[in-house]
Amino acid sequence: MTALTPAGECTLLAVPQFAGLDIGTSSTKAVLIDEEGNVTAQAHRAYEAQSPRPLWVEQDPEVWWEAGQECLKEIGGDPTAIGLTGQMHGSVFLDSQDQVVRPALLWCDQRTADDRDALVASVGREVIRRTTGNPMLTGFQAPKIAWLRREEPEDFRRVRSVLLPKDFVRLRLTGDKATDVSDASGVGLFDITERSWSISLMEALGFDPGWFPAVFESDQVVGRTSDGSLVVAGAGDQAASAVGTGAVRPGVVSVGLGTSGVVFATVDGADLPENETVHLFCHAQRGWHRMGVVLSFGGAVSWAHRTFFPGTSLDDMAAMAASAPAGCEGLTFVPRLAGERCPVDRPDDRGRLLGLTLRHGREHLARAVFEGAAFALASSWAAVLQGLPRPVEVRVTGGGASSPFLTQLIADVLESPLRLLESDEGPALGAALLAGIGAGHWRDTAEATACVHVKRAIEPSGPSYREPVERFLSCSDG
Ligand code: XUL
Repeated sequence: MTALTPAGECTLLAVPQFAGLDIGTSSTKAVLIDEEGNVTAQAHRAYEAQSPRPLWVEQDPEVWWEAGQECLKEIGGDPTAIGLTGQMHGSVFLDSQDQVVRPALLWCDQRTADDRDALVASVGREVIRRTTGNPMLTGFQAPKIAWLRREEPEDFRRVRSVLLPKDFVRLRLTGDKATDVSDASGVGLFDITERSWSISLMEALGFDPGWFPAVFESDQVVGRTSDGSLVVAGAGDQAASAVGTGAVRPGVVSVGLGTSGVVFATVDGADLPENETVHLFCHAQRGWHRMGVVLSFGGAVSWAHRTFFPGTSLDDMAAMAASAPAGCEGLTFVPRLAGERCPVDRPDDRGRLLGLTLRHGREHLARAVFEGAAFALASSWAAVLQGLPRPVEVRVTGGGASSPFLTQLIADVLESPLRLLESDEGPALGAALLAGIGAGHWRDTAEATACVHVKRAIEPSGPSYREPVERFLSCSDG
């Protein structure tokens, strides 16, 4: 782009570009977008999580920082602004020199049940839910701090601050200790209505308010990199993904078909959902959203594929499933292989396969697994949408969105048309769009998400699943 200076000379104006950096659980991903929201470069670095004991899941935060630097370098460009996103709920414990005290406990770590119960007992469930919009879940950050206090007192004494995963990367990138309202909502100490930390809850639970970073709206500029790129607050991965799919107004619901299954609905205000296991979090678009998470959705399909259909592709397994009748002649699979989070909070629950007869073959088994995942999503969907108007549009995202068999099954089970998107870049795209808003290129998420285009619709066309869904509910209590 060129322009004339007042002196009449021709000068080059930088074309705005925005980057999104997603600090995920299995990898870090970066995207660079142009002024129209098109992805012009992307990079990806995989890493592992460690499980030193059953139920424990940890990562070294410095690995995220290394991966983040490499990804930003690889996408290159000269971003006007960068948005950060990533796995929510994790705890990065830092000492007085901002060095990592011990590996971070991740969102899926389930070691904190006793500490969570003790926190709840000390102030009461109602105070926690009324303040934070949610029950205190074992995966949230606050019980992890309580666990450190009880189990590793020496490390605990060294702690001077605690950050969420993407905010640790921000600290290394710009030197700022900051977070955003959507990620802060998943700590267990955030006042959802005021959109600020609940100092009274922190004090009642014995946590030092000085440990927690400053909070910003997701599109606000918080700092700058040494190269001069602005860095916006960003968002937790689910809220950023909603921005990336255009689910930023009431009525447009997004359904995430990933390892976990997610139903995400923007709402008008901070009214508590009827079902306690439905999250109420601050959205990155300055309002609020509800969210239901089915812990093993694609994870259950991958498990069954590995375990029962070795040597075949996932497409082969789907084709086999398609050859069995809907409802699987009475066979029901409950996919609670890692417990459940919504519509029931049962971290200890287990998966089950019920109703086997001599008539059932491998094709029934394959179909029962897909159907069980879809039915679990449908029961989370019902809990999230309870009391809300029927969605005007449902956008699907995540790895499962590319499976014609799965998306048709979901449309049939939910009895709702689904929209597939032109490109599904996940949370990193949402973070890049937030960066563009922070830099003043777009006014708000409504304007920025005009770049997100629907590719096609899938209409419900199959058989009714009401009877098998009833059967599923009676086997799963929820
Ligand atoms: C959201 C949640 C996951 C993690 C990891 O509540 O638990 O989305 O953020 O992706």
